[in-house]
Amino acid sequence: MTTLRFELCKRHLKLLPVLNEFKGGIGAATRCCAVYGFPIKHSASPAMHNAAFASLGLDWRYLAFPVPPKHLQEALRGAMRMRFAGINLTVPHKILALGMMDVLDGTATTWGAVNTVRFEGKAGGQEWLPLAQLPSEADPAMELRAQGFNTDADALLRSLREDLSWTPQGSNVLVLGAGGAGRVAALRLAAEGIAKLSLVNRTLSKAQALAVEIRLRFPDVRADVGFPREEVDLLVNASSVGLSTEDPLPYDAGQFDLSRARLVYDLIYKPRETRLLAAARAAGCHCANGLGMLLYQGAKAFEIWTGRPAPLDVMRQALQNAAYTQPIIP
Ligand code: ATR
Repeated sequence: MTTLRFELCKRHLKLLPVLNEFKGGIGAATRCCAVYGFPIKHSASPAMHNAAFASLGLDWRYLAFPVPPKHLQEALRGAMRMRFAGINLTVPHKILALGMMDVLDGTATTWGAVNTVRFEGKAGGQEWLPLAQLPSEADPAMELRAQGFNTDADALLRSLREDLSWTPQGSNVLVLGAGGAGRVAALRLAAEGIAKLSLVNRTLSKAQALAVEIRLRFPDVRADVGFPREEVDLLVNASSVGLSTEDPLPYDAGQFDLSRARLVYDLIYKPRETRLLAAARAAGCHCANGLGMLLYQGAKAFEIWTGRPAPLDVMRQALQNAAYTQPIIP
């Protein structure tokens, strides 16, 4: 009981500075953003963005909605009509959404996926502006559009540099997974001057198609399918294996020994140490999980929507609290 009270006090003290920033409750002028995914209930993005809005005194809120792929188009159009500022997209929507945007930013076309949508309006022949810069009750006849961005790709690169001190030039990289996240990771790393990229995926044809695309777009990178024989500088897990604590390792340990990898990055950030990261640490690798990538993609989305610099420290702290602090059961 004493421990529980102490925990509650600590938690409330931490929240006080954030709560004090709120100037009022939710009202008619509150700007809304949200994340759509399926499933979505474990997302730490609402905690990260709401803490950022609060710390800057913005009357904005960020919600999370379980949207199945067959309803994604309707849900996006609905949010636009309701004048949401923007939407984040997560599994399984990032590739599907490409065809649902009215316009794509270069980041979305280059990396082939959309994880951030900004709604924009154009009134009476004026230029397109983010809806957040227009009055929330603007002209009902105003034209609206959805612009798609990708903030994941650069966020991965930044996290690899900062969390693992990875330098891309001449690097030999192994990427596990060739779904939405694997594709973005492989393309972004290939664009950064690495020497060799090995692609491994449960469905071989997806890894093969990705290798073909990389050879075409980045001819200086040697892209192969399958486990490399030599040592790798960096192994990235971009498959969804590891999301559950029951999951096996995301690769075949009979075909690859972790002692041959110097750095290991798991895009999964919960649990904090996945089975892969525990094995990599035991094998002497330098490791990081995907919390940094989540932080930096969110920070960029925040800037795209609000036009203001993201309060990175506040967002990082909120993410860590949401992802790693056990809820207190009263
Ligand atoms: P995301 O957007 O997170 O990448 P995704 O596109 O559904 O989601 O991709 C999930 C990735 O994890 C894929 O590479 C998938 O392999 P397949 O392409 O064969 O589907 C991989 N994956 C999912 N479950 C897996 C499992 N049980 N074993 C091995 N790989 C798995």
